Amino acid sequence: MEPSQILSLLERSLFYSKQLKNKQKITKILDGKIVANLFFEHSTRTRFSFEVAAKRLGAGVLNFDSDSSSLAKGETLEDTLKTFDALGIDVGIIRHSDDSYIEDLKTKYNFSVINAGAGSFEHPSQSLLDLFTIQEEFGTLENLTVAICGDVTHSRVAKSNINALKKFNSKVILTGPEELMPVPAKVDNHCEVMKVDDAIKVADVVMLLRVQHERHDLHELNIDNYNRDYGLNDDRLNLMKKNAIIMHPGPFNRGVEISSHLVEHKQSRIFKQKENGVYTRMAILEWIINE
Ligand code: CP
Repeated sequence: MEPSQILSLLERSLFYSKQLKNKQKITKILDGKIVANLFFEHSTRTRFSFEVAAKRLGAGVLNFDSDSSSLAKGETLEDTLKTFDALGIDVGIIRHSDDSYIEDLKTKYNFSVINAGAGSFEHPSQSLLDLFTIQEEFGTLENLTVAICGDVTHSRVAKSNINALKKFNSKVILTGPEELMPVPAKVDNHCEVMKVDDAIKVADVVMLLRVQHERHDLHELNIDNYNRDYGLNDDRLNLMKKNAIIMHPGPFNRGVEISSHLVEHKQSRIFKQKENGVYTRMAILEWIINE
């Protein structure tokens, strides 16, 4: 996506944030449309913020629950999606554990597809809400330093944010346990790898990531040691710039990548990110329906 398209989505997100905060009447641009949340992996934030966003815009929403679906009776994923196509949905918001599954099916069906998280590869709507949160804080996306801390290798959020931030000339620092860092040959040449304390000292944004145990068994987690060695705790908070912010896409593990009491610290924007997810997903739905 071009930087100008990203900025235009952020502008529409801001528009919707103002409308909702001022309790203005929202034009029901999705009136008569059916949006289906088709999540083949667990989710709380993405699924429900897309649901809230779609309902705010007037859509009817279907929530597919893979655990209680006919997948358990042997139906294939493809036949499940063909079924939703036959039902006549307008938009399918899809999360899948495979890196490329969603890309491959974008032209297969009559409904518009939104990527709600693809394996370890991409999470574009999370990146948009992260950019919105950063822009809201600093008034720009240019020339900032963002430290992404934790399980970088398996993080789709990290990849989408690296791709987005380099378009705006912001620096990305990667830090975390060595076995969860990309091998040097795979580090995007826009990024620098640093020790966690060094990264935190220079960052405008400290973006924490959970260890994604469901995707690998590379890092044996000792909770106390993880927080001491790589997590955000009081000692590292003291290293942060006073105007730097703490972000985390969630779900977060209190006491591991972030000390529990820092989740609600005045420099934390973690719950602001959840709020912003609704505005940005309204903008995404508006864009996809007008395409
Ligand atoms: N950030 C994120 O994708 O959270 P969920 O897995 O709860 O959707």
